[in-house]
Amino acid sequence: MIKIGVLASGRGSNFQSIIDAVERGYIDGEIRVLITDNPEAYAIQRAEKHGIEPVVMKPGDWENRDAYYQAVAAELGKREVDLVVLAGFMRIVGKPLIDAYPMRIMNIHPAILPSFPGLHGQAQAADYGVKVSGCTVHFVDEGMDTGPVIIQAVVPAYHDDTEESLAERILRQEHRIFPYAIKLFAEGRLSVEGRKVVVEGKRNPGEVLINPPIED
Ligand code: GRF
Repeated sequence: MIKIGVLASGRGSNFQSIIDAVERGYIDGEIRVLITDNPEAYAIQRAEKHGIEPVVMKPGDWENRDAYYQAVAAELGKREVDLVVLAGFMRIVGKPLIDAYPMRIMNIHPAILPSFPGLHGQAQAADYGVKVSGCTVHFVDEGMDTGPVIIQAVVPAYHDDTEESLAERILRQEHRIFPYAIKLFAEGRLSVEGRKVVVEGKRNPGEVLINPPIED
């Protein structure tokens, strides 16, 4: 059983999907701690409701970024966390944390990377007028949304989508693929070869019927 540490900044709907997956035994793991940079995060209430310890760590309380991420790594280390999950953690993770957990930090991004990295991936996609978008779970490296891709799910995008309508469609997929990626990790089925994540037993865990026959 793996020990999971979650970092979240906001409403925590992805956090909730992971809590639910753990509670129903889909993920063979235990969530040891929620660390948040935002004392107002709704994620804190979700943690409390499910008996998960919430820890508020505001970056401003540390001397600099490195000191902050060293402290975050120490909190995770104290709880013997095996996997760090960024569930809507709205910051670029600093080197001390990445070095402490190489290829053991996962993030979810609401676009098909490498398109539309950074903030507001859904608005970027809606404004660009793409016809498909989706979400990506990836391991975290020092770049912004640049680490090796674990799984992606696609959704259609429409000319009359708003940021909100597209975000809602994408979010439904986030809640499916993030717990799945964590389950694969917990089962020891993920290995990283350069930029490629190899999933034991699956050539592509997100495989769907992407291009059905065109009929009109
Ligand atoms: C999600 O859209 C996620 O992809 C992005 O931040 C948002 C977090 O939403 N990284 P929630 O807090 O999990 O509801």
